[in-house]
Amino acid sequence: MPTPSPARMHDVTVVSNEPIADGVYALVINAPKLAQTIKPGQFVNIAVPGNAMSLLRIPLSYASADAEAGTVEIWYAVVGDGTERLSQMKPGAKTDLLGPGGNGWTIPEGCRRALLVAGGIGVPPVLCLARELAARGIPYTVCIGAASKGCLVGEAEFEAAGAPVISVATDDGSYGYHGFCTAAAEQVLELEGGEFDYVAACGPEPMMAKVAAAAAKAGVPCEVSLERMMSCGFGACSTCAVETTNGMKGACMCGPVFDASKVVVW
Ligand code: FES
Repeated sequence: MPTPSPARMHDVTVVSNEPIADGVYALVINAPKLAQTIKPGQFVNIAVPGNAMSLLRIPLSYASADAEAGTVEIWYAVVGDGTERLSQMKPGAKTDLLGPGGNGWTIPEGCRRALLVAGGIGVPPVLCLARELAARGIPYTVCIGAASKGCLVGEAEFEAAGAPVISVATDDGSYGYHGFCTAAAEQVLELEGGEFDYVAACGPEPMMAKVAAAAAKAGVPCEVSLERMMSCGFGACSTCAVETTNGMKGACMCGPVFDASKVVVW
C-alpha cells in the first residue's frame, strides 16, 4: 500500500522561463511552501493553460529549490504541445501545480561514496541528489551524457555542487566522449566498484537498465528515477504503472525513484 501522497495544490507565478540548451528550458516559479518541502527526486505536476482540449498536468522533476527565496527551478525539454505551451509562459503568468509528488532518492545509511549517472533531461533530479550528498559530506562521482553538445545541461552545476564530472558523453561526439554515459559508468563500476555504496541514475530507460546491470554486477545498491506518463499524479489511475518484483507499482506514488533491483520491465 503506498503511503498517502504528500502532494498539495500550490498557486504559482512564473519568475523566469528561459532556454538553457537546445530544446531545454529553465522555469523558475514562485512557490514558497513547495520550496520548503520538496526533496531530491520528487516531482511536481504542473497545469499549463492554453488548450481546453488538454486537461492533463505535466509531471516534471526539479533542478533546485531555494527555501529562502521561495522559488523552485524546473528544467524541462520541449517535446510536445504541453511543454511547447509551457515554454511560452512569461514572467508573471500564473498557474497551479500539485507537489511535491512521489518518493525521492534514498541515500543508504553509512554511504561513503556515490556514483551518479544522468542522461539528457534526467540531469535535474540527479543534480538535486548531488547537492544533498554534498550537504551530508558524502563524496560522489558524476557521469553525464546528452544527444549533442547543444543539448547538454548540468555540467557546470554539478561542478558547482562540489564534485568534478569525470565523464561527459554525447551521442554524436560533438563534445566529450563519443557514445553514451553508460560506458564510463560501467568502466568505473568494473574497476572501482568496491569504492561505492550507492549508484543513482536518471535518463533514458535503456541507459538506466545498463547502469543498473553494471551496479548489480559490482554488488552496489542502485536507484533509478523512472519517467512514466502520468494522468492523475496521485494514485487514482494506472497510467504510471511500473512492473516490479513486488507487482505493479505506480511511479507517481511508489516512485519515481525505485530500487533498480526490483524493476522487472524497463
Ligand atoms: Fe495516476 Fe500514477 S498517474 S496512478
